Amino acid sequence: MHKINIAIDGPAGSGKSTVAKETAAHLSYLYIDTGAMYRSLTFRALQANISEQDEDSLLRLLTDMDITLKHGEKEAQVQVFVNGQLLGEEIRSQAVTGKVSEVSAHGKIREEMVARQQKIAEQKGVVLDGRDIGTFVLPGAELKIYLYASVDERTKRRHLENIANGRPSDILATREELQRRDHLDRERSIAPLKQAKDAVPIDTTDLTSEEVVARICRIAREKE
Ligand code: C5P
Repeated sequence: MHKINIAIDGPAGSGKSTVAKETAAHLSYLYIDTGAMYRSLTFRALQANISEQDEDSLLRLLTDMDITLKHGEKEAQVQVFVNGQLLGEEIRSQAVTGKVSEVSAHGKIREEMVARQQKIAEQKGVVLDGRDIGTFVLPGAELKIYLYASVDERTKRRHLENIANGRPSDILATREELQRRDHLDRERSIAPLKQAKDAVPIDTTDLTSEEVVARICRIAREKE
């Protein structure tokens, strides 16, 4: 048995982070939430008053940021440390969510983030979730999964998640924001969200996260 790398991509609300985290726990793999990396850069840019359009300043900011991801058993979401300081819920705020797709569309930003993600994956036994993992970050990943679900279901999940985490949430605004972000992520010129040719597509609309995890783990075990 040898450890493999698992790439999980899909649009917002398709279930990626829950499924990736639980899959990693089942297999005793490391889970890397790449969206949290782009979110922490966006959060820091907002704090520093750097425009989401200012690629060079964003890159300078990122170069000075050591981003470490940790996940305790109890936390639903990954903990992000930037230069040793814990960033909390603020990386999931509306302000960050509203700008993150613009920040992550820049080529120099993606280049740096992808290099960091590839470095982490060198050790193998890593589950990465994002938008470009199977297509750009780990094109050679042994297992690629593409999760998707209906817009209604994805909106419902995001809305309930917001409420559970004490974030203000309006269902119509949540739906619009999700579709806006999907559009930007799919249409950007560099590494757009796309199903890799060799990815296993899973429609999660009517599945529980446990069912999706069980399916991914079954395939992973065959490849280990
Ligand atoms: O996964 P999450 O919703 O936290 O990702 C936030 C945003 O970060 C995405 O909408 C996308 O714009 C960007 N992202 C990306 N590439 C990744 C992961 C996230 O462009 N690998």
